[in-house]
Parts: sequence; structure tokens; C-alpha cells
Amino acid sequence: MEDKPVIEQITPILKRYRRERKNLIPILQDVQEKMHYLPLESIVEVASFFDIAPSAVYGVVTFYNQFRMVPPGKHPIKVCLGTACHMKSGELVSEAWERELGIKVGQVTEDREFDLERVACVGCCAMAPVAVVDETVHGQVTPTKIQGIVGAIKRGDEYELQQDTQ
Ligand code: FES
Repeated sequence: MEDKPVIEQITPILKRYRRERKNLIPILQDVQEKMHYLPLESIVEVASFFDIAPSAVYGVVTFYNQFRMVPPGKHPIKVCLGTACHMKSGELVSEAWERELGIKVGQVTEDREFDLERVACVGCCAMAPVAVVDETVHGQVTPTKIQGIVGAIKRGDEYELQQDTQ
């Protein structure tokens, strides 16, 4: 993540768009892609770009679960709850992640090491239930496997993590 002021980071994005309301979501998506989340200052800047109240932009941001207002953890964990994963006890698996990390979906651990999100199908349905951890897809996820994955990350054990995806 860049340490430049928010305004400096998002001005080039705003310059690419016309001030038309249909561009609000694409702009927010671009800002989030660049900053990995939407800090409050970015919401204020986007609102001023459209000459609307920050609360209107805030309403959009909180309506769509694709947007996040807190910086992500060092190791993002995306729990799939698409149809195939849902059918294979995806909800229970999601709760097992929450228990293991001590946070709820949408939150970041206090040490900022992990964050937890729910996503729709990630295209690996045959491996359901699936979680994507640091861009690596883990299949047939169980509570025991979750403990193994989190433990391996904390120990920095790359080998163990690779074994887990096979
Ligand atoms: S539904 Fe989870 S990978 Fe397709």
C-alpha cells in the first residue's frame, strides 16, 4: 500500500472519469483496487468530485459488500459461499474460520495479520468447500485443516501450505 496522501492517490483515477453518477461505482472500485480499501478521506473526495454529500457515497459503499472501509490484513482469507461450497457445509466452515481467527467475517485481526471475507464461487467447485488464502486456493476445507493453514502461516511454513493445496 502506498503512503502518499489519499488525494494524491485518487486524483489520477478521478481524472479518468466524467462527473456522471453511473461512474460512481467504477470509481470506487478503482480506488479500492489501488488502495485495497476505501478510507473515509477517499469517500469525501469522491463525494466532492460528484458534488454530492459524503453520506450518499457512504451509503453506496456500505450497501455493496464488495467494498471495504478497513485496511485488509496481511493475509486475506476469502471463504467461498457459492452454491457448491454452500452445499458442502460452507456456513460451518465459515464459522470455523471465525472461531480460529477470533474475528467475524468482514473484520481484521487485532495484529492485522488476517482478514476474513465471504465471496461467491471462485471457480474451483470440485474442491468444495473452498477458501482462498493469500491467493492460494485450499480445497476440502475442514476445521482441522483451518487450524493447519493458520498455524503454517503464523510459523511462515511455505512447504506445509503448499502440501495443503495438493
Ligand atoms: S462454489 Fe465455491 S468454488 Fe464454486
